[in-house]
Amino acid sequence: MTDGVVAADAAGLRRAAELLRQESVCVFPTETVYGLGAHAFSAKAVAEVYRLKRRPSWNPLIVHVASAADAEALAHEWPEAARRLAARFWPGPLSLVVERAHHLPANGGPSTVAVRVPAHPVALALLEECGLPLAAPSANRSESISPTTAEHVIRSLPDVPLVLDGGPCRLGIESTVVDVTVSPPRLLRPGALSLRAIRDVVGALALPGDPGPGADPTSGVRSPGLAHRHYAPRARLHLVDDPAVLAERAEDADPGTLGVLTHLPAAPPGAHVELLSADPLEYAADLYAALHRLDDAGVTTILAQAPPEGDDWLAVRDRLTRASAR
Ligand code: TXA
Ligand code: MG
Repeated sequence: MTDGVVAADAAGLRRAAELLRQESVCVFPTETVYGLGAHAFSAKAVAEVYRLKRRPSWNPLIVHVASAADAEALAHEWPEAARRLAARFWPGPLSLVVERAHHLPANGGPSTVAVRVPAHPVALALLEECGLPLAAPSANRSESISPTTAEHVIRSLPDVPLVLDGGPCRLGIESTVVDVTVSPPRLLRPGALSLRAIRDVVGALALPGDPGPGADPTSGVRSPGLAHRHYAPRARLHLVDDPAVLAERAEDADPGTLGVLTHLPAAPPGAHVELLSADPLEYAADLYAALHRLDDAGVTTILAQAPPEGDDWLAVRDRLTRASAR
């Protein structure tokens, strides 16, 4: 039985917490994207998350908690970098990978755990109401576009028992994931929190491709979820660097089935155009919603103007690159 989308009021929160305590699942809003929540240390609840998302079992989940103290309780070691980053950015869009406390069930997963304190009143109220650490991946089918509204969730996961509606997510792109088990800390996934902000607190930050501690000699990537196609709309997405080339390709395409995603005002006529902000934070906040709109419009091809170079656009470039992978 499903309750569907419900208001995130006291009754909704009570019902959601009840489901979580019964080792079922529910969807809740965070400041980044909606998360499919489950008691993080219930094998049954976590299995349901993987089943609903059709997520490969090797890709571990981020555990959401109400405070830095609750996060530290899940860690075997809480390094100085974790202490400082948590003090500065939590609640907020930063996930920290730490060594996992030995008393936690590992279920064959990694010896580390990713933790974060979300900055959303509904997420925090739910954590308080249920009193459980909540594993919560983005509430979408594996590899498809992450949800930034309750409606996106229902379209991707129609069978989910309950969705707490918190309106559109403020940041619209997932948390930045940083491995603090190594020194210097290493970026595993660019996201809503900028590299500059993190470097201001910890000094050096290694990037996914950099050699050094934590680098995977075989792939250069250590975050298991990053090695493949992801965040993809139904339409085939092509990233195009040169606006003139984009205009040319748009001219050759059937305008009825063409979508264009760009931050440059000079968009080709005819096509279904999603003109996003030239500010990277505003662009990120609307990116997934724009991809959902293009899917709704029934386009089969999306020409995406490549965003500018530079750290500020790193997360957006990452998501668009993955969305274009086959
Ligand atoms: O903003 C977010 O982080 C959202 C909201 C709901 O909080 N959650 C989210 O979860 O994006 P998910 O499952 O879609 O992405 C989790 C990422 C994946 O890239 C995964 O590989 C990585 O975090 N991850 C999780 N645990 C890890 C670990 N122990 N070591 C390395 N990477 C880990
Ligand atoms: Mg995801």
